[in-house]
Amino acid sequence: MTTALITGATSGLGAAFARRLARDGHHVVLVARDSERLRTQAAELHDRHGVEASVLAADLGTDAGIAALEERAGDRRHPVDLLVNNAGFANKGGYLDIPLADELTMLRVHCEAVLRSTSAAAEAMRERGRGGIINVASVAAFVPRGTYGASKSWVVQFTQGVAGDLKSSGVRLMALCPGFVRTEFHDRAGMDTSPVPDWMWLDAGRVVDAALADLARGRSLSIPDPRYKVMMALAKLTPRGMLSRSTANSGPRYGRVNAPAAGR
Ligand SMILES: NC(=O)c1ccc[n+]([C@@H]2O[C@H](COP(=O)([O-])OP(=O)(O)OC[C@H]3O[C@@H](n4cnc5c(N)ncnc54)[C@H](OP(=O)(O)O)[C@@H]3O)[C@@H](O)[C@H]2O)c1
Repeated sequence: MTTALITGATSGLGAAFARRLARDGHHVVLVARDSERLRTQAAELHDRHGVEASVLAADLGTDAGIAALEERAGDRRHPVDLLVNNAGFANKGGYLDIPLADELTMLRVHCEAVLRSTSAAAEAMRERGRGGIINVASVAAFVPRGTYGASKSWVVQFTQGVAGDLKSSGVRLMALCPGFVRTEFHDRAGMDTSPVPDWMWLDAGRVVDAALADLARGRSLSIPDPRYKVMMALAKLTPRGMLSRSTANSGPRYGRVNAPAAGR
C-alpha cells in the first residue's frame, strides 16, 4: 500500500484529496493546525476505508511546523509516495491594509513550506525511483494579484521547473490551479463572494478527480475545468496593464466585507 501526505487536510480541497485517496486505498497522513479536527477526520477515514490514517498537527506559518512537515515528507522508514501541498489561506484586506507579518506568514505557508517539503520528499522519492507531488496553486497565479497571486505564481514556476529537472527520475510534479472552489477559504478570509456567478464555482471533489487524472497523464500543470482553461488562455493574450486594471477593479467586488481586498 502507498502513503499520501496531504497538508491542509481538514477542510475544502485537502479534505477532498484525503477522502478520494483513502477511498482508493492509500494510507493517509493528514496535516493542519486543528488537531481535534484532524483526529476526527483520521478516525472517519480509517473506519470507512480501512486505511491507516495518521495526523501531524503543524502550523506551516512557523519554522517548527515546517520542519516537522519536512521530516515526515522525507522519512525513509515510512515513505511518502504522494505529497499534496495544499494548505493555504487568503489575507484580509487590500495591499497596505494587510499587516506585513501576515503577508510574510502567507509566503511561509504558500512558498517556504512547499519548497522545503517538496525538496525533502523529492530527494527520498528519487532514491526510490518513483513518487508524485502536487502543489496547489491557483488561477490567481496567472493574473497580477498582490502577494496571494505572486505566491501562487511562485508555486507554478517552481513546480514546473522542478518537474523538468526530475523528468527522468520517476518523480512526477504537478502544479494544480483551480478557480473558485466551494470550501471554507472565502469565509475564513471574511470575503464577500456574492458577486461571483454560480457558473464560476467548482466542486472540490471534481477538482481533485481532475487533478489526479492529470497527474496520472504526466502533466506538470493542471487547470481542472474547461471554463477556466479558456479564461486563462484569454488572460495570456491580454496585455498585463489591462489585466492589472481589471483585477484591481474586481478586487473590491470579491473582497472582504467592509474592506477592499484582492479576490482569489
Ligand atoms: N477555494 C478556492 O476558491 C481556491 C481557489 C484556488 C486555489 N485555492 C487554494 O487551495 C488550497 C486549499 O484551500 P481551500 O479552498 O480548501 O481552503 P480551506 O477550506 O480554508 O482549507 C484550508 C486548509 O489549510 C489549512 N491551513 C491553513 N493555514 C494553515 C497553516 N498555517 N498551517 C497548516 N495548515 C493550514 C487549514 O486547516 P487548519 O485551519 O486546521 O490549519 C485547512 O485544512 C489553498 O492553497 C488555496 O490557496 C483555493
